Amino acid sequence: MHVPTRGSLPARVGAGVQSVPDHGPSVMDASVYRDPVRFELERTKVLTSHWLLAGRSEQVREPGDWLTYEGHGESIVITRQPDGALAAFHNVCQHRGPAFVTAMTGCAARRFTCPYHGWVYDTTGRVVGVPEREDFDPAHLDGLRAPAVAADEWGGWVWINLAGPDAATPLLDALGADIVSDLGAFRMEDMVLHEVLEFDVPVNYKAVVDGFNEIYHVTELHHVPPEFTKAARCASFHIVGDNYMCFVPKPEHLAELESVDYDHHQYAICHYVVFPNTVFNCNPEHIQVFQPIPIGVDRTRFLCWEIVYAGDQNDPQYAKYWKKTMLHWAGLKHVVGEDIGIYEQMARTKNSSGFRQQVLSERECKIAHYHENMDRKIRI
Ligand code: FES
Ligand SMILES: [Fe+2]
Repeated sequence: MHVPTRGSLPARVGAGVQSVPDHGPSVMDASVYRDPVRFELERTKVLTSHWLLAGRSEQVREPGDWLTYEGHGESIVITRQPDGALAAFHNVCQHRGPAFVTAMTGCAARRFTCPYHGWVYDTTGRVVGVPEREDFDPAHLDGLRAPAVAADEWGGWVWINLAGPDAATPLLDALGADIVSDLGAFRMEDMVLHEVLEFDVPVNYKAVVDGFNEIYHVTELHHVPPEFTKAARCASFHIVGDNYMCFVPKPEHLAELESVDYDHHQYAICHYVVFPNTVFNCNPEHIQVFQPIPIGVDRTRFLCWEIVYAGDQNDPQYAKYWKKTMLHWAGLKHVVGEDIGIYEQMARTKNSSGFRQQVLSERECKIAHYHENMDRKIRI
């Protein structure tokens, strides 16, 4: 079983590592969460041009397997091709517009048939059959396809970019070298999906992202023991391009923090945020991915993925790993429940005239940077 280790990667926390970027305390307008005009700009300018998580590669293992991504008004189908690559397309019938792939997931598909008038699509989204074709203008049908979406895989995850295969920034460029190497050390491609939790939360998706861009709240909301609070004070925060990293030493490894060889993969909780809405929370044994998918300006489909290293339950060492990991996951589910409780409190005041701005500390700099970045992107 893989044990993540820093190896020759740069130290991210500990002696000689700056713990907070040069950003400083700031304030932020409350409208970022509730302005429908802003949400529409994010939907059309950011969510259509950045890489979004769509599922696990293991969910589309064989040719003809497919899965569906739905959110912010979009329905996308991702299919495994005979050559092992992925194809993705808008699940929109080019005749009159309904979704033509009716099931959210499936396997061994060779064609998809629209249930309205029977137009037929291949697994890349090309129109390959039109009943009573002679009644149409051939020029209208020539080369017709459901618009293509870029699809790629990294870390055992399926990613999509609505900009399309020709316009999307390469996935590895969007992730950036720091995330690819540091998060890459966990070898998520060797892990398997254990569980996905789904919540319908009544707040803006960025409020959920923000909750994962700071650790200030864990003392009060999650009632962590004082040793964890002390260790969290030693965490380091990093801004890497559009994305973020944060490393929270585990209390039992605080003493090693002065070492220049501090192995954050083994001794810290390693936390990565990929803009705009993918959060990786890595423990050495298992990983949670938190994915708030916007539905509307104040409604979010919040997915929590739990992935674990694969192994044989009959192997005593793996059985021990499994027991420990499942116990920890059960505790983390409780923590997620506490976060959900806060979203409910936020929902009560999301349109309140008394909520005008947020006041952020220097250790909440990732939140400030995230919103500044978003602001820049919707103004382009
Ligand atoms: S709307 Fe799909 S075939 Fe007519
Ligand atoms: Fe939390």
